[in-house]
Amino acid sequence: METRIIDYFAAKSVGDAAELLRRGETVAFPTETVYGLGANALDPGAVARIYAAKGRPSDNPLIVHIADTAQADELAEVSDLARQLMAAFWPGPLTLVLPARPCIPRIVTGGLDTVGIRMPAHPAALLMLREAGVPVAAPSANLSGRPSPTTADHVWEDLSGRIPLIINGGAAISGLESTVLDLTSPVPAILRPGVITAEALAPFIPGISEETRLPDGGVARAPGMKYRHYAPKAQVILCRPQDIYDTYCRTLQQFFAAGNTEPKIAVLATMQGLTGMAKAEHCFLLGENPEEAAQNLFAALRWTDEINADLVLAESFPEKGVGIALMNRLKKAAKAL
Ligand code: TXA
Ligand code: MG
Repeated sequence: METRIIDYFAAKSVGDAAELLRRGETVAFPTETVYGLGANALDPGAVARIYAAKGRPSDNPLIVHIADTAQADELAEVSDLARQLMAAFWPGPLTLVLPARPCIPRIVTGGLDTVGIRMPAHPAALLMLREAGVPVAAPSANLSGRPSPTTADHVWEDLSGRIPLIINGGAAISGLESTVLDLTSPVPAILRPGVITAEALAPFIPGISEETRLPDGGVARAPGMKYRHYAPKAQVILCRPQDIYDTYCRTLQQFFAAGNTEPKIAVLATMQGLTGMAKAEHCFLLGENPEEAAQNLFAALRWTDEINADLVLAESFPEKGVGIALMNRLKKAAKAL
């Protein structure tokens, strides 16, 4: 299959995407979090194409993307709390898990009786969804086992030849997948941390925390969490910015001692973490703050695989604000979660 890539400000891109979606095809599109691979959520055959293109198991539920809140009522039972959260955070990086209406095919929910819904904030996504006139099921537009794509190039790397169209809407501004909030559990639970934090949700849900303890003593988990989240080929070590230089020197010595005289040690860090590293060859500047690091993290992880790094040293961040979601993805990359 030939894959076309069109800039989103080319008006035609949105029209072409909408037409493909209505015909039951898949389209990769930009959102403010990561790029999604979408198909008509009400057409099981179209949704099956998503799983085929990604090589992803089909029992992992998909998020349904919509362009206006009225559409949510057609897809799910919307509580007063859900309505308040939509008014406060949509369009934006918050997925609400709600009781699904029967119109949602099982292939979308992975057989659950709930459905995750969100309204993305990227103008191209909103225009495409409005024009298509159908809700769009979309996971991140990466091959299964690769990091979520934050640019159209990442999507191209993974899916060219497998899907008909990629809309290029530039680099994703937040760079981490949406916060998934389950409103169907006994107490509302954050299933996946994102840039909308427990602190931001607390005015609506007093007492909510990032790791919700359920009444049975367990910790809430999204079904998708059972699949290995992306981790680079090389081992990842997390270190505080002030420890990166020493860790670099120590691990370099270990490679030398083991007979590897030219190890590729990839360092992913802010300016602060890169202090003293001017001579290190494989450094990736994550940015100046946790927000920029979140934007660049998935690109950085892809790069460590591209250069065939032997080891990755990644800066750790304080777990507050966006740092919570950032550390969640970093710990998964380091297989520490
Ligand atoms: O930012 C995002 O959410 C991106 C963009 C494209 O919108 N999408 C995304 O989709 O990250 P995906 O499929 O890679 O991750 C969806 C997550 C999974 O962890 C899945 O288990 C959870 O949402 N999820 C979806 N529906 C659910 C449901 N009904 N109940 C519990 N968790 C659900
Ligand atoms: Mg994903």
